[in-house]
Amino acid sequence: MRTRRLALEALARIDEDGAYANLVLAGLLDRVDPDAPPLSARDRGFVTDLVYGTERMRRACDHLVDRFLSSDPPAAARRVLRLGAYQLAFRPDLPDYAVVASTVSAAPKRFRGLVNAVLRRVAAAPVEFPDTPTRLSYPDWIVDRLVSDLGELDAVAAMETMNRPPRVHRRADGYVQDLASQWVAALVGATDGDLVLDVCAAPGGKATAMAANGATVIASDLQPGRVGLISANCLATGADGVVAVVADGTAPPWRPGSFDRVLVDAPCSGLGVLRRRPDARWRLDADAPERLGALAIQLVDAAAQLVAPGGTLVFSVCTLTAAETTAVDDRLAVAHPELDVLDPPEAPWRPWGPGAMLLPQDADTDGMCIFRYRRR
Ligand SMILES: C[S@@+](CC[C@H](N)C(=O)[O-])C[C@H]1O[C@@H](n2cnc3c(N)ncnc32)[C@H](O)[C@@H]1O
Repeated sequence: MRTRRLALEALARIDEDGAYANLVLAGLLDRVDPDAPPLSARDRGFVTDLVYGTERMRRACDHLVDRFLSSDPPAAARRVLRLGAYQLAFRPDLPDYAVVASTVSAAPKRFRGLVNAVLRRVAAAPVEFPDTPTRLSYPDWIVDRLVSDLGELDAVAAMETMNRPPRVHRRADGYVQDLASQWVAALVGATDGDLVLDVCAAPGGKATAMAANGATVIASDLQPGRVGLISANCLATGADGVVAVVADGTAPPWRPGSFDRVLVDAPCSGLGVLRRRPDARWRLDADAPERLGALAIQLVDAAAQLVAPGGTLVFSVCTLTAAETTAVDDRLAVAHPELDVLDPPEAPWRPWGPGAMLLPQDADTDGMCIFRYRRR
């Protein structure tokens, strides 16, 4: 019951205060309650799954309970019903009777009758959905966008994969970083003695990985608070060779042609990393890909001028939309004829325009795109 109460508290903060799921959860799990023993690792994992799963599958869960409601319940009751429906439909390892009993007792007293009646009916009814966006639990616009950019089969498989929790990958220096992100850092090709500019570097995952190869990395980011994260991660990983600076990548303070390699890991809609950010799909607006694609064009255009002759420019994003990937490359091709396209990486990457895309389902990683160029 304690685990479900904690999950409900986290869901309320996300719902009512607009808090980020990962931050709320970290705070709640580490809160010290003098009247209770600390949560076991197993319980922490269970609360995390309840919150992330309920948040991800919100639309699907609402559909399952709405079949048995005649009017919209108060928000606090809605959250308990979602939490119950998530366990009943998506946690087959939990017995229905236990889910109903423990979710009812975690509910505020005044809603217990309603929750008990509705969850019993949800448990007894088949799990059926009217359409793909409801079944996959994504907003219509994300389903429409990915289906139109990737084709239905790949888009649906990507969205299904992003409904499952990610695997954790720890680098040799202890930094936790998804394999896709590690591969992008490696594909920059930075080696001993290279001077590298990482234009959008915070929190420093790729910058510290490149420095580990012997490169000197200028790790810049627009947001001072996030530049602090780069420094903290350098300390934690023991990375030397990284210089963290605040700089706007659209108006970079560097002389043209200063760097052997430039990486633009641009801010994006993040539609390739939704398994890590369970609440992100409900926060994003449908204009985000165009808006962020336009910003990426500005960043890559400015970065192209900073590459020394013979040096390389790498553009990457953790999203899967054409507006933020091939459309950026199209503009770059027109504006920078001095850039030659480098061969795309091999499988599990797939060719995507003159670059490559890694779909989440292909290697159980985050979804990413990468484009690499050499300046003549
Ligand atoms: C995808 S994240 C970078 C992740 C990072 N490369 C890593 O591997 O850890 C994008 C970053 O771009 C930064 N950003 C956004 N606009 C920027 C701008 N105009 N100039 C520089 N950085 C910017 C954001 O603050 C954010 O930290």
